[in-house]
Amino acid sequence: MILKGKGYHTVNLAAVQDRGGITVRNLDKSYGRHEVLKNISFALKAGDSLIIKGPSGCGKSTLLRILAGLEIPDAGEVWLDSRVVSAPGHYELPWLRGIGMVFQAPTLWPHMTVAENITYPIMNWPRDKRKARLAGLLNMLEIADKEASFPDEISGGQARRVALARAFAARPRFMLLDEPLTNLNYDLKLHLLEHIKMEVERNKSTMIYVTHDSEEAGYISSNILRFEEINQTSRIED
Ligand SMILES: Nc1ncnc2c1ncn2[C@@H]1O[C@H](COP(=O)(O)OP(=O)(O)OP(=O)(O)O)[C@@H](O)[C@H]1O
Ligand SMILES: [Mg+2]
Repeated sequence: MILKGKGYHTVNLAAVQDRGGITVRNLDKSYGRHEVLKNISFALKAGDSLIIKGPSGCGKSTLLRILAGLEIPDAGEVWLDSRVVSAPGHYELPWLRGIGMVFQAPTLWPHMTVAENITYPIMNWPRDKRKARLAGLLNMLEIADKEASFPDEISGGQARRVALARAFAARPRFMLLDEPLTNLNYDLKLHLLEHIKMEVERNKSTMIYVTHDSEEAGYISSNILRFEEINQTSRIED
């Protein structure tokens, strides 16, 4: 089966599902009478990175939340690797999907320390392995001195780094990053971009990265999906 789309988004669905990755088919989502996603289809090969761009309010975060299993679509299918995780009458729980996510709004657990926040997704790892992974992430993101701090005791930039560390902790198959570096200074942004790329390559993760920033996008991937081109809702409004 061929998915409709522009350029490299035209893919052979059967082939993509065989090789893994992320496949979205004819996704619809409305809030009340507000149609946010209409007939969204695209596919991303395993290990590839995709940038999603589009105007504010067009549904980028909604799409990521559907992929993560935090929202249920009204219609359509989501495939992760070779399995369907969301389809009419079928829903796989978020924590079974192998996804690491950084939310657009900072969402650290306020009652947990930085270390506890980061290791939450790997609580079931053996203690030694968990400690080593935590130390590696704290050092990589230069927040080792904040290990015992609570989220309300660290800066916004540090909180962003903790959120990234938590998303990477379990070396997830899929990374969903929703404007993860917004409002950070230029040097820190470059530094974190390098580490995001390194982690994703090392873990062979498949990544979707939402950003409005062209420079940031160029750094992550030349594979760009412009939401307004595939979302039937915005086309109708145009
Ligand atoms: N839980 C909800 N209930 C009702 N409407 C919602 C809900 N979540 C999102 N929306 C609406 O859906 C639309 C898409 O929101 P979404 O957050 O996905 O946009 P976005 O593309 O991520 O925008 P931005 O670039 O500003 O982050 C918006 O009009 C928003 O108001
Ligand atoms: Mg958003």
